[in-house]
Amino acid sequence: AMFVGEMIPESFIHELLQRVDLVQLIDGYVPLKRHGADFAACCPFHNEKSPSFTVSPSKQFYHCFGCGAHGTAIGFMMAYAGVGFQDAVKDLAARVGLSLPEQHGVAPVPAAPTQGLAELMARAARFYREQLKSSDKAIAYLKARGVSGEVARRFGLGYSPDAGQALAGAFAEYASPQLQAMGLVTRNEQGRLYDRFRDRVMFPIINLRGEVIAFGGRVVGQGEPKYLNSPETPLFHKGNELYGLPQARLAIRARNQVIVVEGYLDVVALAQHGIDNVAAALGTATTVAHVQKLLRQADKIIFCFDGDAAGRKAAWRALENSLEVLPEQKEIGFVFLPEGDDPDSFVRRNGTAALGQLVERATPLSEYMLRELAGRCDLASAEGSARLLAEARPMLARLSSPLLRLQLVKRLAKLSGLAQSEVESLYGLPAVTRQLPPAYPSRRPPSLPRKLLRILLQRPQLIHRVPLDLLPEASAEARVVRLLGQLAGAGKTPADAGYASLLECLRGKDDESVLQEAAAELMQQQLAEDEVEAEFEGALARLREHAGRRAFSLLQAKIQKLGLAGLSSEEKQQYLTAIGVGSGSGGGWRSAL
Ligand code: UTP
Ligand code: MN
Repeated sequence: AMFVGEMIPESFIHELLQRVDLVQLIDGYVPLKRHGADFAACCPFHNEKSPSFTVSPSKQFYHCFGCGAHGTAIGFMMAYAGVGFQDAVKDLAARVGLSLPEQHGVAPVPAAPTQGLAELMARAARFYREQLKSSDKAIAYLKARGVSGEVARRFGLGYSPDAGQALAGAFAEYASPQLQAMGLVTRNEQGRLYDRFRDRVMFPIINLRGEVIAFGGRVVGQGEPKYLNSPETPLFHKGNELYGLPQARLAIRARNQVIVVEGYLDVVALAQHGIDNVAAALGTATTVAHVQKLLRQADKIIFCFDGDAAGRKAAWRALENSLEVLPEQKEIGFVFLPEGDDPDSFVRRNGTAALGQLVERATPLSEYMLRELAGRCDLASAEGSARLLAEARPMLARLSSPLLRLQLVKRLAKLSGLAQSEVESLYGLPAVTRQLPPAYPSRRPPSLPRKLLRILLQRPQLIHRVPLDLLPEASAEARVVRLLGQLAGAGKTPADAGYASLLECLRGKDDESVLQEAAAELMQQQLAEDEVEAEFEGALARLREHAGRRAFSLLQAKIQKLGLAGLSSEEKQQYLTAIGVGSGSGGGWRSAL
């Protein structure tokens, strides 16, 4: 990535969120219908028949009552396009014509005019599709491989004719440097331009925004190289993309599971057999970026690679690249096909149910890891056990999930004949149990700061009237309100951009969920506009009262320790006023007694 998260200044995020219109953005992907003050649609993040996906134009926030998905424009791009934070910011910035601020020591990257390039790729894809219709040879090949016309259409398969400059039939400007930049046309040693893809079945690679960004071309029958792929281009970064992901998206969401295979034809063949939640890494090892992208779409990844040495090696690489990005509640499994099979040949011979069973019984990541490591050591000997522990250690260190690490430590202890505590201290691991997150908080009536936060989300300009110094120290909601106040005080957030900006300020921090919950509550139940002021006044009164009570008990504690004489004269006056002895009204304090 070109930018480190920390390097995008907060002010830029605020500016960006102000300029992006969330309704217009989402409407480009999921047609929205007006619904009262908000907009609604069937949720793009889960399968449903009646619309529970709601977009609030005033809060620039979306929320699904069905599956709980929610967030800002940035969050939407991350979830929908499956990109990371920085890419989402870059993408949105480009749409509204903002350029990312220059980074210290990093040369500004000129924004590539990718829009035109995507159109050019789409035109090439159309051309190849047309060519397939008139190539008996390519059609016969696909038929022989069991691909129906319907599935070929679904994946937009095409054919590149066996001619030097066939693309000239689609592009008047065959010599355009853009065609070369996209890797569609290359120059030979004599300086002559010619098509990169000739006489191949064409697989368009499409990103989650629906743009054709690259091609893979397979020889029709035998030949070398079997596949030719587009080079890296401004649109195409191999390590980020997966073949078949956009076509599989809904099935992945519906099953909450994605199957990852090695080859283009594995994806197509499984779709042909009704297994739709499938994508392929593009002839590269599965990268960390791939795993992250997939885990944004589903809670479970099943790697199902070829039953050969290369496939097993690919599985191990996938495991290694999953360790550090595997969250607690997500799962990764591995299917090992019989020697010589790939998913395509397996499903063709044994059918959908047989493959389904293998997927169902996939080996969990932890088991695969232990089995593989233990297989390399002779556990009957002390040296072998020591080696197992030594080899497992760096892998456990990379594991992001403490619960899974705990499980693995337990099993490593068993395998090596040590106590769990011995393995833990050997690894220098803190006692894992103490790091566990607290159990779910019980449902209590909303605390005062929570209530205040909800009111402020509904009418952000009220923040200027909140006495921030009276907020309790310890409450997360109070921290969020204070942050809101600081931003408003510094003129950083215009009142009506408060919520979305704040949410992005808190991204990844402990207090993020507090704000999301408050916003989700607000989407479900708004105060009537004429109640807001009264509710706000009531909350402020209780806030002063609570603060008074806190101050009073501090004074009492001081007196218990030091006696009345230990108070400053000012504190003494406060105390006497509070208990109704001194002058002044002291109403708030007295009622607190
Ligand atoms: P496979 O050889 O397993 O391809 O390579 P496949 O999809 O099963 O194809 P068929 O069944 O033989 O037609 C797996 C993947 O590795 C990449 C491609 O992405 C391919 O889908 N690859 C393979 C290349 O990029 N170039 C090659 O020459 C071969
Ligand atoms: Mn194959």
